[in-house]
Amino acid sequence: MNYDIKDIRLAKKGILRIEWARQNMPVLSLIGELFNKERPLRGIKVSACLHVTTETAVLMEVLKKAGAEIVLCASNPLSTQDDVAASLVKHLKISVFAIKGENKETYYQHIKSCLEIRPHITMDDGADLVSTLHLKPKYQNILTSIIGGTEETTTGVIRLRALANEGRLRYPIIAVNDALTKHLFDNRYGTGQSTIDGILRATNKLIAGSNFLICGYGFCGKGLALRAKGMGANVIISEVSPIRALEAVMDGFLVMPVAEAIKLADIIVTVTGDIDVINKRHFLSMKDGVILANSGHFNVEIDIPSLEKLSIRKRRIRDFVDEYTLKNRKKIYLLGEGRLINLVSAEGHPAQVMDLSFSNQALSVEYIVKNYKKLDKKVYKVPEEIDRKVATFKLQSMGIKIDNLTEEQKDYLLSWKEGT
Ligand SMILES: NC(=O)c1ccc[n+]([C@@H]2O[C@H](COP(=O)([O-])OP(=O)(O)OC[C@H]3O[C@@H](n4cnc5c(N)ncnc54)[C@H](O)[C@@H]3O)[C@@H](O)[C@H]2O)c1
Repeated sequence: MNYDIKDIRLAKKGILRIEWARQNMPVLSLIGELFNKERPLRGIKVSACLHVTTETAVLMEVLKKAGAEIVLCASNPLSTQDDVAASLVKHLKISVFAIKGENKETYYQHIKSCLEIRPHITMDDGADLVSTLHLKPKYQNILTSIIGGTEETTTGVIRLRALANEGRLRYPIIAVNDALTKHLFDNRYGTGQSTIDGILRATNKLIAGSNFLICGYGFCGKGLALRAKGMGANVIISEVSPIRALEAVMDGFLVMPVAEAIKLADIIVTVTGDIDVINKRHFLSMKDGVILANSGHFNVEIDIPSLEKLSIRKRRIRDFVDEYTLKNRKKIYLLGEGRLINLVSAEGHPAQVMDLSFSNQALSVEYIVKNYKKLDKKVYKVPEEIDRKVATFKLQSMGIKIDNLTEEQKDYLLSWKEGT
C-alpha cells in the first residue's frame, strides 16, 4: 500500500511547510548541494523509519539528491504529519507508508512494506524497523544485503546495544543520538521547547506558577526543566541516578521521589525512556485536574492500562486531551494517549535543531557507504570528524566566528612538562 493522495490541497500545504523547514536547515541544505554534485549514494536503497515531519522531508530530499532510492515509514503511530506525507509522494516522488493515527497493526504493516525495497541501509528512530528485521525469520535474505544503519534516539540506541551485547546484531549501526551535536542540542533544546509547545497546544494551560514535575533529568529532562523554569513554573525533578539528581539540585530544582512529588504537581511529564515511571501506586494521590504527559520515546512511561482500570469515566475533552475520572472523583488529564507529546499535538523539534541531528544522519549514511567494509556488527559512535564538521558548518551558517589554537598552544596542550 502506498500513501494515498486524497487531497491535493494537503500536498500543497505540506510542500510550503517543507520549504519553511528547508530555509531553517542551512547545514543540511549545504550537505544537499555537495551530495547533488558528488552523488555518494548512487545505487543505494534506504528504508527509513522516522517521524514523518517537515524536517524529515528535507532529509529525504537530501538523500535523494545524493542518488539514493528511499522508502519512508513512520516511527510512531501518532507523529505523522499527513500533509508532509502527501507532499513527499506527490512532489518529491518518495514512497511513504504512514498515516497519523494508524493502529498498531497498520503501523507494523507499514514497517514491513518499507522493507520490501530490500534496503542496503536502514534509518531508524526507536529501533522498531531494525527489531522487526531481526525478529522475523523471513527477513534473513534481506539482512544479508544490508551494509549498515543509523539510529536517531536514546531509546533506540539502548535497544540496539542490548541486541549487540547478545551477539545478535546483524550489521553495523551508527548511533546518531550519541553525537554531541545531536543529544546536546536536539534532546535538550529541541525536546525542551517542543514539549512545552505540545502541552500548550493541547491544553492552553498557564505554565507560570504551576508545580511542574519532570521525571528524568537526562538530556531531554534538563532542556524541559530549563524551559519550564523560564516560563515561571516551580520545577520538581524525580530521578533514579544519584549523579543526575545531584545535578538537578545544583541547577536549583527541588528533587524528590516521584511518590511525593505527584502529590504537589499540577503538570507531570515523563522523559526517561523507562517503563511504569508513573504507575498504579501514583494515580489516586494526584491532585484533582493534574495534567499528565510523556515525551519519552514509547508510550510505556505512564501505566495507562492501570489508569483505565482505576477510572469510572473517560472522555475526550479536547483534541489530544483525555479526561479520566477516578473512583475518588478526581480528574486526571492524559495528553496524546501518553505518546511523545511534542510530536503528537505539536510539530516536533524546530527545524534549526533538526538541522544538526539530520546533518549527522546524512553524513553518517555517507560514512557507512564509504566505510562499511571496515565496520563490524556493532553500535558505533558518530565519527568525531562528522560531529566537528556539523558544529563548524552550523556556526558558519549563524555568522559566528571562533578562535583557532596557535601552533604554540597546540604544543603546550600536548606536552606533559612543567606548566611554568
Ligand atoms: N520527544 C522527543 O522528541 C525525544 C527526543 C529525543 C529523545 N527522546 C526520548 O526521550 C527519552 C529520554 O531521552 P534522554 O536523551 O533524555 O535520555 P537520558 O538517558 O539522557 O536520560 C534519561 C534519564 O531518566 C532517568 N530515569 C530512568 N528511569 C527513571 C525513573 N523510573 N524515574 C526517574 N528517572 C528515571 C535516568 O536516570 C536518566 O537520567 C528516551 O526515550 C529518548 O528516546 C524523545
